[in-house]
Amino acid sequence: MISGTATLIAGCKVNLSLRITSRRDDGYHTLESLFLPLPFPRDVITIAGAPDSDGFSLSCDDPALESADNLLSKAYTAYADKTGFAPRLRVFLQKNIPHGAGLGGGSSDAAAFLLYLDSLARESGASALSREALRELALSLGADVPFFLLNRPAKATGIGDILEEVDNPVTGMHLVLVCPDIRVSTPWAFAAWDKKNPENLKSALTSLREQDSSPLVQGVSVQNDLQDVVFERHPRLRHITDLLYAHNAAAATMSGSGASLFGLFESVTDAAAAAGRLRSGGERVFVHRL
Ligand code: C5P
Repeated sequence: MISGTATLIAGCKVNLSLRITSRRDDGYHTLESLFLPLPFPRDVITIAGAPDSDGFSLSCDDPALESADNLLSKAYTAYADKTGFAPRLRVFLQKNIPHGAGLGGGSSDAAAFLLYLDSLARESGASALSREALRELALSLGADVPFFLLNRPAKATGIGDILEEVDNPVTGMHLVLVCPDIRVSTPWAFAAWDKKNPENLKSALTSLREQDSSPLVQGVSVQNDLQDVVFERHPRLRHITDLLYAHNAAAATMSGSGASLFGLFESVTDAAAAAGRLRSGGERVFVHRL
């Protein structure tokens, strides 16, 4: 039983690069990606003991997210099924990370909650999980969840789950993150990419690399292979990216399967000017010093 309340902060991520390397038989795609955690936007998860409840209850400032499909509910069930540890908890989620944004918000919530449950199990004398078992449980919830267990800049391969911690390659730069009010479904984005690159995946990938003119920023090729199909469907995203470049971004692209976009800037003045212009156009914008 927990006394008082606990508050978990769950940040988000961008993919500085996202390259598709192959398609697996189960429909997932293998990737080469570079994940960068960001402190904002961030979700706040408040947890209280609920002695009279059945087990787990979830409420959220966005009632549409209160379902059993929420990754917090799935994380609780998966942890309880795996370990038998099922404390009675009431959870409130303050959702600030937009979903369908490519920022990994749901995955971040799930990872923060798994780490919390595991530390609570350990404190309660129940059998907590090994690091590898926790990673496997995280992966069963979604391809991005293992990254948020680590929550450090990392190169990812596999389906985004094989992680190698790296130094932040863009330290000192300014990142302007734009969260348009457009939601993109991740399965849709990968399926649209498949449709465009149907038969000979190998030659499609070779020609993609040959055409590659993506900017190199401190050795990182800032590029997202899903960007073309998402921009075709949502031309406003291309317009925002152009605007970031017009304000001297060293590079600008989409995060994950979109619809969030980011620009990397050498100059804080350029970053602030781009952010101001986008905000005055009604966009939700976060500026980070990396
Ligand atoms: O694992 P997650 O729930 O985040 O993935 C959602 C969907 O995105 C998958 O069902 C799959 O269609 C697609 N996906 C993919 N390759 C990846 C990650 C996700 O095809 N590496």
